[in-house]
Amino acid sequence: DWTMEAYREEAIRKIREQVGDKKVICALSGGVDSSVAAILLHEAIGDQLTCVFVDHGLLRLNEATEVVTMFREHYNLPLIHADESELFLGKLDGVSDPETKRKIIGGLFIDVFQKYANGIEGAEFLAQGTLYPDVIESVSFSGGPSVTIKSHHNVGGLPEKMGLKLVEPLRELFKDEVRALGRELGLPDSFIGRHPFPGPGLAIRCPGEITREKLEILRKADAVYIDQIRKHGLYDEIWQAFVAILPVRTVGVMGDGRTYDFACALRAVTSVDGMTADYYPFSHDFLGETATRIINEVKGINRVTYDVTSKPPGTIEWE
Ligand code: XMP
Repeated sequence: DWTMEAYREEAIRKIREQVGDKKVICALSGGVDSSVAAILLHEAIGDQLTCVFVDHGLLRLNEATEVVTMFREHYNLPLIHADESELFLGKLDGVSDPETKRKIIGGLFIDVFQKYANGIEGAEFLAQGTLYPDVIESVSFSGGPSVTIKSHHNVGGLPEKMGLKLVEPLRELFKDEVRALGRELGLPDSFIGRHPFPGPGLAIRCPGEITREKLEILRKADAVYIDQIRKHGLYDEIWQAFVAILPVRTVGVMGDGRTYDFACALRAVTSVDGMTADYYPFSHDFLGETATRIINEVKGINRVTYDVTSKPPGTIEWE
């Protein structure tokens, strides 16, 4: 893509001009925006950049390893893997109110990022994958603080508080242009086409109290569901698909025994921008096959339901 090649050159030139020989830190979430920003910065300034990947213990199956491996090994990014799952899950223990969960996660995310950033001597810039729509709108998802440090309104001026200047190399781009730039930078299509994943992660797909047991069951069920969607060639038709584990156990039968395990809900929606959404019309065969696989393959779940709520009146996430 000629346009993107030119944009890439120009963006690199601008980053070098702005940053000079100073150090930059960047929060890498594994999402498309922060990933593209990080790779572009790395091309521009090499190891003057340090990325911090905050693992809050609420990621999907194998996600932390996949993201860290890809960026360290394939892209050679200087990357700190901040495994803070004990901290986050500890503070979330016993918490079931959705807004309280979000506040705890958002607050800890900032503390943790700040802690690692303070350890990087001489850092003067904070890089963010802010896009053009983030610049012109101020949408705060679900009324709660996003844990990405993307938009200033979400973090109460984190850069100023930390005494850092901002570098925002994607500020002029729309989402589809960021994807094109990501392809230009060599990111695999499978990565660029990934469904959005919320900052609070699995916390908002686990209504009620979050326990390690529930998270583990949720991760496995979600992986089976996404595998089914990919195998049936439906992934790219869907805006977002995930499993929510319900805070209720129900009775079932398995072999000659009675089970008393968690119920879960499958969610899949089509959408243009996440603001409105329709539930995805899976075939009954697909739903039946998926339910059977989850119940057979995931210990701890004995009932599967499908969420047929559109947005509005529902939200995409369960909390
Ligand atoms: P809802 O559930 O509000 O979600 O219909 C709309 C879109 O936003 C995502 N989402 C979030 N993303 N931090 C994020 O980075 C958040 O706190 C957050 N809450 C919801 C959600 O996954 C969907 O794509």
